[in-house]
Amino acid sequence: MSAKLIKGAEVAAQIRDELKKEVDELKAKHNITPGLVTILVGEDPGSVSYVTAKQKTAHELGFYSVQDNQPPTIAEAELLGLIEKYNKDPKIHGILVQLPLPKTIDTNKVLYAIDPNKDVDAFHPVNVGRILIGQYAFLPCTPAGCQELIVRSFGDPKGKEVVVVGRSNIVGKPMVAIMLQKLPGANATVTCVHTGTPKDRMIEHCRRADILIVAAGVPKYVQADWVKEGACVIDVGVNRIGISEKTGKAILAGDVDFDAVKEKAAFITPVPGGVGPMTITMLMKNTVMAAKLAAGLIKI
Ligand code: GUN
Repeated sequence: MSAKLIKGAEVAAQIRDELKKEVDELKAKHNITPGLVTILVGEDPGSVSYVTAKQKTAHELGFYSVQDNQPPTIAEAELLGLIEKYNKDPKIHGILVQLPLPKTIDTNKVLYAIDPNKDVDAFHPVNVGRILIGQYAFLPCTPAGCQELIVRSFGDPKGKEVVVVGRSNIVGKPMVAIMLQKLPGANATVTCVHTGTPKDRMIEHCRRADILIVAAGVPKYVQADWVKEGACVIDVGVNRIGISEKTGKAILAGDVDFDAVKEKAAFITPVPGGVGPMTITMLMKNTVMAAKLAAGLIKI
């Protein structure tokens, strides 16, 4: 069989349409305009292109959006002062500090200074804890995007075997917490395999998966014989495996051996074009939720 491709850009566009309606309603009924600040320290080209895309999407959705550019020489105390200013600003509901930060700055100190109710990356320990307990307003963007892709293609994961490959703080661990919740779009039986799992056991676990989510950071790691016939395979990996002679651009591969695995799976995300296009849209969703939280329209 050849799997159905899960097209992240199409799902993301659908969610942005839903968000636009919600934003228009928030403005009309409650006089609330979601506000997002993206703070960029330095001029790393990758980070510049990320924050530009975030600002563009925020603008298209009708947010109040602020791009705050700071020099790479900014002192940690000054950056903390900026965050404090945005924590107090009632027009700003979401604060995103683009990573990585210069080595002179303690990243955790900066991230932990963000008001948890404005932490639209959901990296603050308070939000990590809220997610584990199941009492949250927003989820980290990449695993939240994976959940949307699963629910909108494969369907509700309730009662299914979910196997997560990788245990990073940004993807693997929150993915486990999300799929575990006794909530719609989750309620699965969840296994996490990682670098401490012996390879033969890892393959056995993956073979049981109805839904296999891979964030291993190793190109083409998951092979076709690890995958159950009819599984839903979500590939979070983005690995540069060369440069195209034709275009001069990077050739990307995911963490799944796509060409072989697509013959076993029922649903699969391509790389690029699967999980990647979802993350900015999930950031926008989080900002809308943060605005509703600030207005008391939702509670945690
Ligand atoms: N840099 C690359 N991805 C991200 C992200 O999701 N959030 C932040 N804050 N920085 C990033």
